[in-house]
Amino acid sequence: MNWKRIDQLNLKGKRVLTRVDINVPIKDSIVSDTTRIERIIPTINSIVANGGIPIIISHFGRPTKQKEKEYSLKQLVPYLSKYLEQEVIFTDQDEINTIVKQSKALKPGQILLLENIRFRSGETSNDPILARQLAELGEVFCNDAFSAAHRAHASTEGIAHLLPNCVGFQMEAELLNLEQTLVKPKQPVTAIIGGSKISTKIDLLNNLAQKFNFLVIGGGMANTFLKAAGFNIGNSLYEEDYLNSAIKISKIAEQSNCKIVLPNDIVVAKELIENSSSEIYDVTKCPEDQMILDIGPKTIKNICYIIKDSKTLIWNGPLGAFEFQPFNTSTDEIAKFSSKLTREGKLVSVAGGGDTISALSLTGSDKEFTYISTAGGAFLEWMEGKDLPAIKPLLD
Ligand code: 3PG
Repeated sequence: MNWKRIDQLNLKGKRVLTRVDINVPIKDSIVSDTTRIERIIPTINSIVANGGIPIIISHFGRPTKQKEKEYSLKQLVPYLSKYLEQEVIFTDQDEINTIVKQSKALKPGQILLLENIRFRSGETSNDPILARQLAELGEVFCNDAFSAAHRAHASTEGIAHLLPNCVGFQMEAELLNLEQTLVKPKQPVTAIIGGSKISTKIDLLNNLAQKFNFLVIGGGMANTFLKAAGFNIGNSLYEEDYLNSAIKISKIAEQSNCKIVLPNDIVVAKELIENSSSEIYDVTKCPEDQMILDIGPKTIKNICYIIKDSKTLIWNGPLGAFEFQPFNTSTDEIAKFSSKLTREGKLVSVAGGGDTISALSLTGSDKEFTYISTAGGAFLEWMEGKDLPAIKPLLD
């Protein structure tokens, strides 16, 4: 894949419309995870260092009405200023013409942040009129929002056709790392797919089962696979409507020589609460009145053997009910083992999507993974083998 980097365009004195994704978790204006903000700082700094003027655009949450205070990007100005170590000018003007005037009055070194782009009608419908209006705000478009690249919106896809474009460092890091694991990974490749529902990951499982050597299935999803394979799973949650999908995915895997790894021992409890009393059983002996909340020690050992023999690991979704101890054990032990192999240079390990970052950061070993993607839906769609609409216009 070819794209233009920031340093391949002349940015001197130019307003650089910079699409980022600072859609961060927030409560009472306090951001609980600043990763997405921190990761875009090198791009903004580089635009400034190259003489450009960053005009930052982002979405924030999914506002249903046009202007809702809880979705205002104004709340993030202090965070951006702190990490950029300079003032960030914020505009919540409605009229694009007014913002065009504001942006033209900026001097190199100054930074402008626009209000949540999803407050504008036409953003999510990729209205060409909005895209053209946005294009008035800059002379160059820089996309640094991989995590929004699965959205064909006016500020991601539409605008990219209207201005000379380039990718930011965060976008480039995501593309390179994901390419390294999905497009041309070092073999053998193992995927760990956890989380509660198969229904949200059918395309992903289908795609990976045809490509990878091992597909480790954990979390609530494993219950549906176990049930479909005829095991009694007691009171465990599973998806009745997806039993056939589990069977189909298992068949595809078999035809493609991909080994699906399911728990052969399980950690069960009567209720899902912190420090609930739990027991370990063979998977054939799940008690009727208990639910499976994690995979057992024998399975953990088996998965570690598989990872040890692999060269590439891709991880999406926690393996057990990781928010409640002791059901975080498998995620914790396997994450630590994988990060050790990565540290020793024996494994390329990439993780991302949904709950994965919070599950892995609780283990404390996430920093040693080769790469942790900040993307949720975009990471999943990439792994499903889909083209991401906002990436296409950035490729030469
Ligand atoms: C995300 O958090 O995955 C991205 O910011 C995209 O958000 P969206 O699902 O609301 O488009």
